[in-house]
Amino acid sequence: MTIDTAAPAVDQVPFSQLLREGSQAEHTEAETSSFMSALLDGRISRDGYAAYLLALAPVYDALEEVGRSLVGDAAAPDPVAAEVWDPLLERAAALAEDLEFFAGPDWRTRVSTDPAVTAYVDRLRHTASAGELFVAHHYTRYLGDLSGGQAIGRIIARTYGLVDGEGTAFYRFAGIEKPKPYKDGYRARLDGLDLSPARRAAALEEVKLAFRLNHEIFMALTKDIDRYLVTA
Ligand code: HEM
Repeated sequence: MTIDTAAPAVDQVPFSQLLREGSQAEHTEAETSSFMSALLDGRISRDGYAAYLLALAPVYDALEEVGRSLVGDAAAPDPVAAEVWDPLLERAAALAEDLEFFAGPDWRTRVSTDPAVTAYVDRLRHTASAGELFVAHHYTRYLGDLSGGQAIGRIIARTYGLVDGEGTAFYRFAGIEKPKPYKDGYRARLDGLDLSPARRAAALEEVKLAFRLNHEIFMALTKDIDRYLVTA
């Protein structure tokens, strides 16, 4: 048996720190996939970026549907999910706006049905069964969007020569002027959650899974990368 000495102890660090430090390896892996690297280098065509958004749309639909079922529309909101759920974060409408721009008005007929997307959506639906699993996915997507996502948005605007916010609604959160204080508040709410060590451990495992599911989508996009790479 090997003991992972780098892993933080589940009940000895604040929950937000556990999630961040415990998923660092998975974050790095997702960050460095070929599709993502090429996107950040400005080497992916508009069609390629549209394919990326067409993969994200069903993911956010599922995440936000589960959030509403657990909290927004729930007669008895799940107390754990309720600590992080916030309609200001919802991305489905912003994605629809960007997809109109990059993929045209019939984009809904072309939403990705790749197995990597379906697997992520299925897992998201499963998180309706336990608040800490939902929190794990909520954290992975939205804190990412408010972190590295902000830099990615600036790169997208530069790559495709976008002005006045066109095509980049996904990276703007109306009502959240500055990501930093929002993220600090979000982490404080995570740290205030009253979760047993077993539920904290389950949440960390779920964050790692969420990163892997994102990575699988990037891998699927990488398979088509020759179609999407632009030559200088
Ligand atoms: C090339 C792609 C990516 C880049 C360049 C990137 C970059 C970053 C950076 C610089 C931070 C730290 C920001 C800060 O301290 O405020 C961050 C945080 C984060 N990223 Fe990413 N990221 C990428 C992809 C992803 C992906 C694919 C996900 C998950 C879907 C993700 C999820 C997160 C999360 C959850 C955090 C917050 C960590 C925490 O403070 O708890 N990132 N990212």
